[in-house]
Amino acid sequence: MTAKLIKGTEIREEILSEIEKEVKEIKEKHGKVPGLVTILVGENPASISYVTLKIKTADRLGFHEIQDNQPADVAEADLLALIDKYNKDEAINGILVQLPLPKHIDEKKILNAIDPDKDVDGFHPVNVGRLMIGGDEVKFAPCTPAGIQEMIIRAGVETSGAEVVVVGRSNIVGKPIANMMVQKGPGANSTVTIVHTRTKDLAAHCKRADILIVAAGVPGLVKPEWIKPGSCVIDVGVNRVGEKKSEKTGKMIPLLKGDVDFDAAKEIAGSITPVPGGVGPMTITMLMRNTLKSLKYKLGIQ
Ligand code: GUN
Repeated sequence: MTAKLIKGTEIREEILSEIEKEVKEIKEKHGKVPGLVTILVGENPASISYVTLKIKTADRLGFHEIQDNQPADVAEADLLALIDKYNKDEAINGILVQLPLPKHIDEKKILNAIDPDKDVDGFHPVNVGRLMIGGDEVKFAPCTPAGIQEMIIRAGVETSGAEVVVVGRSNIVGKPIANMMVQKGPGANSTVTIVHTRTKDLAAHCKRADILIVAAGVPGLVKPEWIKPGSCVIDVGVNRVGEKKSEKTGKMIPLLKGDVDFDAAKEIAGSITPVPGGVGPMTITMLMRNTLKSLKYKLGIQ
């Protein structure tokens, strides 16, 4: 059997068209567009490419966008002052500080300074708490977990009563997606297990997963024999394992590999996300949706 491919690139286009349509309607009715600022500190190449893509996507959707790049040696106090400025800026609905930050800056302090009502990354403790409560309390789910849940829903995978196993316990992916899948509601109602580096028998847990979500950051960690036949496999890993020549431009680009042995896994799973082109494109898409949501909350039209 060959698994159905859950293509993030296709789902992204569906959702971006929905957002674009809504942005036009709101602009006509209320004379407002969503405003997003990205704050990038330093020149980490991966961060530059993520932020550039975020701004490009926001622009394509008709958002008001600001790309605020700061030098690697920016003082923490200056960064806090910048966040304060955008917290007060009426035209800005979403503030995104690209992570990781340089070592001299306290990441927690920076994230906690963002107004929770503009925290479109969903990393502020207030939004983490809201996510834990679930239901109507949730304002901004973090973007990668929100993208994963959306892919599962749009692929038509049954989640109610399903055994979901999450590999990885990060604050950005593992813990929030586990929390989201256990809630009452569509695309959830699952029985959830989180496994991590100290788990005794990783393989045994993975083998009983109806939905296996892997966010470990270890290339090829999940072996084909760990996959339950017919299950849904979501691979969040984006590991740079070398370089390859781009077919489009002829330039050298990073060679990406997921946390799952894709070629073997696709012969066993019922559905699977590829790397690249799976979960990756969904993260930016959900950031756009959160920024639109933020404007809608402000206008009272949610
Ligand atoms: N760095 C890697 N992933 C993310 C993300 O989702 N948000 C931000 N702000 N930084 C990141």
